Amino acid sequence: MTSGSAIGISTMRPCCRILCNYKSPSIFGFSPTKFSDSAIMGMLTRSGHHKSNHRHRYNTCDSQIVGYINMINPNRRDFSVSGSNLGLVRDFSTSVCVNIGSFRPRVASLIPHVASDFRNHSTSVDSHAHDTSFEKIYIQSGLNVKPLVIEKIETDQSKLEEVSEEECDVSNDNLDNLKDLSENKVRREVSELEKEAWKLLRDAVVTYCGNPVGTVAANDSADKQPLNYDQVFIRDFVPSALAFLLNGEGEIVKNFLLHTLQLQSWEKTVDCYSPGQGLMPASFKVRTVPLDGSNEAFEEVLDPDFGESAIGRVAPVDSGLWWIILLRAYGKLTGDYTLQDRVDVQTGIRLILKLCLTDGFDMFPSLLVTDGSCMIDRRMGIHGHPLEIQALFYSALRCSREMLIVNDATKSLVAAVSNRLSALCFHMREYYWVDMKKINEIYRYKTEEYSTDAVNKFNIYPEQIPSWLVDWISEDGGYFIGNVQPAHMDFRFFTLGNLWAIVSSLGTTRQNQSILNLIEAKWDDIVAQMPLKICYPALEGEEWRIITGCDPKNTPWSYHNGGSWPTLLWQFTLACMKMGRPDLAQKAVDSAGKRLSVDRWPEYYDTRNGRFIGKQSRLMQTWTIAGFLTSKMLLENPEKASSLFWEEDFELLQNCVCMLSKASRRKCSRFASRSQFLV
Ligand code: GLC
Repeated sequence: MTSGSAIGISTMRPCCRILCNYKSPSIFGFSPTKFSDSAIMGMLTRSGHHKSNHRHRYNTCDSQIVGYINMINPNRRDFSVSGSNLGLVRDFSTSVCVNIGSFRPRVASLIPHVASDFRNHSTSVDSHAHDTSFEKIYIQSGLNVKPLVIEKIETDQSKLEEVSEEECDVSNDNLDNLKDLSENKVRREVSELEKEAWKLLRDAVVTYCGNPVGTVAANDSADKQPLNYDQVFIRDFVPSALAFLLNGEGEIVKNFLLHTLQLQSWEKTVDCYSPGQGLMPASFKVRTVPLDGSNEAFEEVLDPDFGESAIGRVAPVDSGLWWIILLRAYGKLTGDYTLQDRVDVQTGIRLILKLCLTDGFDMFPSLLVTDGSCMIDRRMGIHGHPLEIQALFYSALRCSREMLIVNDATKSLVAAVSNRLSALCFHMREYYWVDMKKINEIYRYKTEEYSTDAVNKFNIYPEQIPSWLVDWISEDGGYFIGNVQPAHMDFRFFTLGNLWAIVSSLGTTRQNQSILNLIEAKWDDIVAQMPLKICYPALEGEEWRIITGCDPKNTPWSYHNGGSWPTLLWQFTLACMKMGRPDLAQKAVDSAGKRLSVDRWPEYYDTRNGRFIGKQSRLMQTWTIAGFLTSKMLLENPEKASSLFWEEDFELLQNCVCMLSKASRRKCSRFASRSQFLV
């Protein structure tokens, strides 16, 4: 990366200015010719920046997070201009600091486009209210409460609410357990271990123009080759952010959210190609560069990496999803919802959604991505529809559904989000889930089925069931497999995706419970001596050679290939707390606590049992430190933890049932005969 490809955010301080990179004639990634709305053109004219044609420009702004018009309309439902599809038009009379990049009018064409995708899909639950084709759908809790049986989908909304209430009781039970647990605890002193972790976390903080904006990935002064570990990674910052938020420190998180939002506008190119505008960078670095034309003056600039420098040049699909998830968490934990209501922030959400919801060749609601587009950012055979991305996508959609301001301009997008949630949830529950029963079913699959009512829709050959799985899966356990493609199921257990399936309620209550049952039963394989394995089992021999491309970093039981990543601890804690099993999380946190500091907070561990510090593991890895602290604080604050996970949303379920029933019953034969969807 060069400083020429950097963006700086200006402040009042002379040393910190905006270094804008845009190409003529486009400004911040959009070309004026791509939109026609005169209002926006007018605004650009008024802002006086549109004529500028320099490769770099500086812009002086307010000392706060700047570059956007910080106009917050207290009326959540009324921020955009009605009668316009734009939904982006801002009140320029209140402009404080105008950064041309913040207009992002490309979105002008987004909403109608997305809306059109769903034009033919009813978004209304009521429209299917009289459909009785899905009688006898069983909704059963997995938490030892009496099974609920719905004889049919009622037309009456109150009936649905009855179910929701009963199901909610189940989760409230969980919450009560957690409360009891915390009430019995006398708030203890912060241990020496935590004090050390806090110090290290604070040492990892990166400032920009004097303000904290994130944490570096690793902060080991002895490391002579930090590569890009001295950058702020979006995904790595999430546990840091939660630690700060749970500790009552919101500023760094707010700064991070707003600065990364600005980076989203960055015009990025890989060779001659520009990826979508909503893409969030994998990471960014604060650089100090000479001020143009001066040898003495310097300024700080933010330099993002969208994958153009990353090993393998992979697009960080998860970054935008994590950004949305963190934005919601910020609101929940600080009570400050004005941030998510800001016009620029709303636009940022929409741009990310646009990238995710745009039509492609997809036949399924799951997101199609390249290998290495998430935490596993090297080739590991997870291209296609990897679980991790689907679970984060589902979570981000649920967050967006809560945060998007509904008005005329956004209602079709909101409907699209709801439809996708319903379809994705059905798809994952139905096709990714395996347990003893399902594996037995696959074992007896007929193949080469042609027709819409095939049972073996993906034409999976039973011989694909790996031998390790047959003995491994526990009687009461189950999990979402890593990937589903034509004639291919990736049966590996991927931890992050399964944990987020629990946290976001992508799985049913029973499925979520079964995942934890499996982890408990297979503790030595999944948690072992250092929580938790990134995936199980490792690829070995020929498989390793072909699938990883002979990657020496991803040798069996190392790094992404079955290595143990302590950062997964906080997500495990959250999932356990949601399911009323804080004891499991506590056990894992205790065992990690015995080694992390002694081992100098490694990034990952190697070997089947997670006994050795990873071959190429960084030390003083920030998300290891922050993940540990966050786990501790979540366990102590069950109520706060509960604001970070979701319960089943029955409206989404009903929406899906309605969509399925609208299609011909024959097409949903699996569903009609035996569905896991609601069980
Ligand atoms: C490695 C990990 C990635 C992480 C980065 C920074 O590349 O695979 O998930 O974000 O390091 O810690």
